[in-house]
Amino acid sequence: MCGIVGYIGPQDATPIILNGLKRLEYRGYDSAGLAVLENSHIEVRRDAGKLSRLIALVEESPLHGHVGIGHTRWATHGEPNARNAHPHMGMTGDVVVVHNGIVENFLELREELSAEGVVFNSDTDTEVIVHLVERYMSRETGLAEATRSALNHLRGAHGVVVFSSREPDKIVAARIGNAGGVVVGLGEGETFVASDMPAILEHTRRVVFLESRQMAVVTRSGVEVKTLDGAPVAYEVHNVAWDPIAAEKGAYRHFMQKEIHEQARSLTDTIGGRVDFEDGRIRLPELKLTPERAQRIQKIFITACGTAGHAGMVGKVLIERIARIPVELDIASEFRYRDPIIAKDDVVLAISQSGETADTLAAMEEARRKGATLWSIVNVIGSQAMRIADGYISMQTGPEIGVASTKAYTAPLVDLYMLAVLLADLRGALSERERRRLVNDLRRVPDLAGRCLDREAEVENVARTLLNVSHCLYLGRGINMPTAYEGALKLKEISYIHAEGYPAGEMKHGPIALIDRDMPVVVIAPKDPWYEKMFSQIEQAKARGGTVIALATEGDEMISSIADHVLWLPDTPWMLSPVTAVIPLQLLAYHIAALRGLDVDQPRNLAKSVTVE
Ligand code: AGP
Repeated sequence: MCGIVGYIGPQDATPIILNGLKRLEYRGYDSAGLAVLENSHIEVRRDAGKLSRLIALVEESPLHGHVGIGHTRWATHGEPNARNAHPHMGMTGDVVVVHNGIVENFLELREELSAEGVVFNSDTDTEVIVHLVERYMSRETGLAEATRSALNHLRGAHGVVVFSSREPDKIVAARIGNAGGVVVGLGEGETFVASDMPAILEHTRRVVFLESRQMAVVTRSGVEVKTLDGAPVAYEVHNVAWDPIAAEKGAYRHFMQKEIHEQARSLTDTIGGRVDFEDGRIRLPELKLTPERAQRIQKIFITACGTAGHAGMVGKVLIERIARIPVELDIASEFRYRDPIIAKDDVVLAISQSGETADTLAAMEEARRKGATLWSIVNVIGSQAMRIADGYISMQTGPEIGVASTKAYTAPLVDLYMLAVLLADLRGALSERERRRLVNDLRRVPDLAGRCLDREAEVENVARTLLNVSHCLYLGRGINMPTAYEGALKLKEISYIHAEGYPAGEMKHGPIALIDRDMPVVVIAPKDPWYEKMFSQIEQAKARGGTVIALATEGDEMISSIADHVLWLPDTPWMLSPVTAVIPLQLLAYHIAALRGLDVDQPRNLAKSVTVE
């Protein structure tokens, strides 16, 4: 997963950047690179593979200078090879850029730039950024203004760092949305830039965080921050403790809050390397899935626990809808005891963040005994659930510390979507047009997640109104029925408020009796194929005096006119709507628990990894 480190000051930039990148290695990456201003021109070293390969390159061909930027890349557009590794230079060789995120409109921008005579040297989306900066610099604009103009062309969420040999006294960094943070570290006569604090903490504790749509002009003597509209920003300097845990938490109060906010970035990483937007195809090489094997599958059993189980429920809808393969969903602790009927070509897919959950592992063993092919979706590389599977998909979220799972819920949703598209493609179940549409929809996911995160303050306001409730009902239908389960699970596990997720259509068969003014009802009603049914659910709850908190698509005035509170969602393709719909629910649970003063990251009676049956 991408990491960025930059330095400007009197010291040799190379070792500082390489050490910083080392501190970000835990995030996972597939190539690395470095650009340093050496004797007034920019020198780049980059290669596929691990940082040790880059270090060897630098040893063979040293680089010395006082300004530089480095990057570890997790491929999104273009293979993980040296040519696609960052940093990327422009045509003049005077400007260089590193980037985290996905340029959603890169095909359009590439065409536009190609028509202006730009020659591209990589398959990445990132390269358009450096050419745009050069375009504006050639119009006699300085680096900062040129970068600002360039960034205003980008759609999506980004962390960008750029410098130019024409203005060796500065580095320009910017953040758009939530695809990655940008932190500036203030030293004595030297300044650091990074995507994550651990990269620079050994040098300084004084840091400035960029908010979305802000840019920093970084010099040896400090930083100037402005918005992408050009307005100056009065920033706050934070003093960070050396405590590595606190450092990891950054500006967030709890890991859970940090991890919720990491989702735009973890979703970028989830897509990274797996999606070829040009071909409109998905690659999941660790599954070792051939077209013949895909065609023989008669049935898939998904098995998991808790939050991972809710992801599995969404996966069932996706695989059945997209790949037309029947899917059975089992809570892992039930699977092994129900003597499931598994045929020889069936697949059992286990989902587990930790990869060490005893019930899930037991279910996998049972499946193995019955001769199934075993797949897993895991977050922890090297975990048991990964090792015993015949093929796996890794979640790419980075470590999840908070006991309440958040980013390790949205990542497998996207993994399952990609799996469904891949299966459908290998089985010839999709037209090319349909496949391309489904693949293309993935491009917007990190930014859509970021837009939910931008509404945190609104969610916190709603949380204040629910602080003292004792019960809460969550209703969803279709692909968002599991969202209701997951929202309720989040609330109960960290706030200790009794919460139940329910399929909305079941209300009339009993639970509707519970509704009165003391029972808030969270209704998940985005514009998906179940919208009208959910709308009438809101009316029914209102008619019985219930307080309704509706999750609705931005601009839905019908819902805002009847619900007591609305948590707005960006318009999301419905098969990906569980990814965005869950984010306000995670934030809601988080803020209720935080406002109640509870131990959000380590709720009572719970463990991160449940290794007992
Ligand atoms: C979620 O917030 C939980 N803490 C819990 O339900 C968790 O998802 C479950 O224990 C499964 O864990 P796993 O993904 O590590 O297998």
